[in-house]
Amino acid sequence: MRTQMTTRRVLAGAATLVAALGLTACGGGDDDGGSGGGSGAKAQKVAVLLPDTQSSVRWETADRPLLEAAFKAAGVPVEIQNAQGDKSTQQQQAEQAITNGAKILLLTNLDSGSGAAIEAQAAAKGVKVIDYDRLTLKGKADYYVSFDNVKVGELQGKGLVSCLGSKEKPRIAELNGSPDDNNATLFAQGYNSVLDPLFKAGKAEKVADQSVPDWDNQQALTIYEQMLQKTGGKIDGVLAANDGLANSVVSAMRSRKLQPIPVTGQDATVQGLQNILTGDQCMTVYKAIKKEADAASKLAIALSKGQQPPAGLVNGKSDDGARQVPSALLEPVSVTKDNLKDTVLADGFVKREELCAGKLASVCEKAGI
Ligand code: BGC
Repeated sequence: MRTQMTTRRVLAGAATLVAALGLTACGGGDDDGGSGGGSGAKAQKVAVLLPDTQSSVRWETADRPLLEAAFKAAGVPVEIQNAQGDKSTQQQQAEQAITNGAKILLLTNLDSGSGAAIEAQAAAKGVKVIDYDRLTLKGKADYYVSFDNVKVGELQGKGLVSCLGSKEKPRIAELNGSPDDNNATLFAQGYNSVLDPLFKAGKAEKVADQSVPDWDNQQALTIYEQMLQKTGGKIDGVLAANDGLANSVVSAMRSRKLQPIPVTGQDATVQGLQNILTGDQCMTVYKAIKKEADAASKLAIALSKGQQPPAGLVNGKSDDGARQVPSALLEPVSVTKDNLKDTVLADGFVKREELCAGKLASVCEKAGI
């Protein structure tokens, strides 16, 4: 035991050096890691289980690279998988990761039922879980890392109201996220807290309200086309729960050659921001995924070493239906044409070259970007 400890310390020291030189390997199958914060104990392997590629581009374009970088910087060995929207694939990926030596799972579930099953199995094997971005209801996660998701919804609701301006009794349609995603419930709680009083007071009219299963953008297009059909095209503004859904609305409007109307979004995707610049979308919500990834890596280190997380990181508790899960919840930021430059661009979340490529070049110039 003693020898093992000494060997561990030596290895950890070497790993610290490697990490400091920026040479830590990641994504591989070995469970050899860095020091993860310098207290000497070896960091245990983490497996990240991402949900899909179609509900939002964020998972592959932002979360994967930012998580990879955060864990690498922290000297924590990490393996990242994407379930491509398939619950049994995610289950298998979790089992495989545990077999490969992962001691901590970072899970973005596809729904609470399948997430809770993964967490029960992990717990039975002594593997810790961090719910990443989406809370697993009645799960076993040790921590939950996300944004204040009710606030995300509030920003969307307020953004829509401000984009509608002085429009008399605007006719509003709601295109909600997946009914299986606890975040979608929280977003709706946020935007309905802004919109419901207006509906009740007769200051606005809700003309359609539908959830989009699995946040599927293709289904969102069909749903929105049906909304247009049902309302005779009389919709003045759309509360779309993320940029992917917003883009389905924009596509439907463009193909019918309808004038753009205020549409909200979320994730500050390149496409969402471009839609904002062209005037087809009125706002998005920027969630600094770098901060989310950094918080997750710090919690993973604390868990792997049996330590308390850094002071201030865990700043709340979230009710999973059975327990209060210690949570690190970050602040979302509302983005419009006016502050796009000072937020997502200034943060390096999106690169100007990408945002202003091709047809967007002149639009960017006009907007002073
Ligand atoms: C995330 C959003 C994302 C959506 C679809 C939600 O749980 O918080 O950022 O747009 O899932 O993937």
